[in-house]
Amino acid sequence: MDRTLVICKPDAVERGLVGEIISRLERRNLTLVAAELRTLDADSAGRHYAEHADKPFYGDLVDFITRGPAMVLVVEGPEDTWKVVRTMMGATNPREAAPGTIRGDLGILFTENLIHGSDSLESAAREIDIFFPGL
Ligand code: RTP
Ligand code: MG
Repeated sequence: MDRTLVICKPDAVERGLVGEIISRLERRNLTLVAAELRTLDADSAGRHYAEHADKPFYGDLVDFITRGPAMVLVVEGPEDTWKVVRTMMGATNPREAAPGTIRGDLGILFTENLIHGSDSLESAAREIDIFFPGL
């Protein structure tokens, strides 16, 4: 089995879309193995987005991801589950995301793109350890 980290970002919580997002994951026959509503602190947000630390959008990204509660999930399924979740999410910019994807159906603004999903097996292991050490 493969595990991946999913975050329903603060915009998803604010807009009441957490149920919709979790429902899509469950309907796909993926399994939740951890779930916690938490407001990310600057330290865990910085660790999580370390790869973007020197990008021009980094400050806005950390402000956004820490601005209120997020629903942090570990999702399990068969081989390449991280990739399945990425496909379900759609393109990073919701304006370019295909209909049928979470971002393409529910989002319109960049940065406020509703959902994070790990982008590789290695990222998944690293990110799960940030939020659910020992899981
Ligand atoms: P995420 O990590 O949040 O799941 O998103 P992603 O893999 O689709 O995109 P990534 O390249 O990792 O970027 C992380 C988040 O940074 C914001 N971003 N802004 N202004 C820009 O050019 C820009 N590029 C990325 C987005 O909110 C993206 O989700
Ligand atoms: Mg990413």
